[in-house]
Amino acid sequence: MTKLGVNVDHVATVRQARQAIEPDPVAAAIAAELAGAHGITVHIRGDRRHIQERDLDLLRRTVKTSLNVEMAATEEMMQMASSVRPDCVTLVPEQPEELTTEGGLNLTKQRRAIESAIARLRSEGMEVSLFVDPDVRQLEIAAELGTRAVELNTASYAESVPAGLAEWEENFQRQLLQVTECASQASSMGLRVLAGHGLTYRNVGPIAAISEIEELNIGHNLISRAILVGMERAVREMLAAMMA
Ligand code: PXP
Repeated sequence: MTKLGVNVDHVATVRQARQAIEPDPVAAAIAAELAGAHGITVHIRGDRRHIQERDLDLLRRTVKTSLNVEMAATEEMMQMASSVRPDCVTLVPEQPEELTTEGGLNLTKQRRAIESAIARLRSEGMEVSLFVDPDVRQLEIAAELGTRAVELNTASYAESVPAGLAEWEENFQRQLLQVTECASQASSMGLRVLAGHGLTYRNVGPIAAISEIEELNIGHNLISRAILVGMERAVREMLAAMMA
């Protein structure tokens, strides 16, 4: 069975929009675990646009499944990882103005920095995963650098199915094949294989069916749905509070 890692970043995005105390991503993580999530993921960004240090500290103390923290391999973030000690650190590229992570790590260019980050995190007892595009060359370098896991970027796959699952579309087939082949290659290199980015209720099926992929990290679409499926109850509760 494919595991589900729930990314609760966008609960924090709503909180930060008002600099308020709610909604709390820690409460969302607890609810996700109660519903059966196998892990909780958060991305702490240099600009702190959603997850804050306080969230990491509380998540470390409350998450009972597995805490995966996505971060750039900067000195600031490496120190953060040392003090929080998540179960897994996923190294990702980060651009200041990007709306979301744009593409996987470029391991050809950043080889040395990523290699030393992996060694440092592993020496402190953390598992490390590298977020990479489904590209065989990137996987080969990842294996050489000493990581035990990779997360395949499914953004191009997801973008090939914007309006539903049009399985007959050539681009969709090409992107799915690319992820499938890379999952198999990575697994044959001895790497644990995860995947994520842009996955939705509509496009997750074919990716979840790839046997080598152990776990999917899903955030935006799942949090979006949580807001909508909770709307009716939230309105009823407000009306009841007004009549109390
Ligand atoms: N994996 C990585 C490495 C990411 O950066 C993100 C977005 O934070 C995700 C998975 C989840 O992507 P989405 O929010 O599109 O589900």
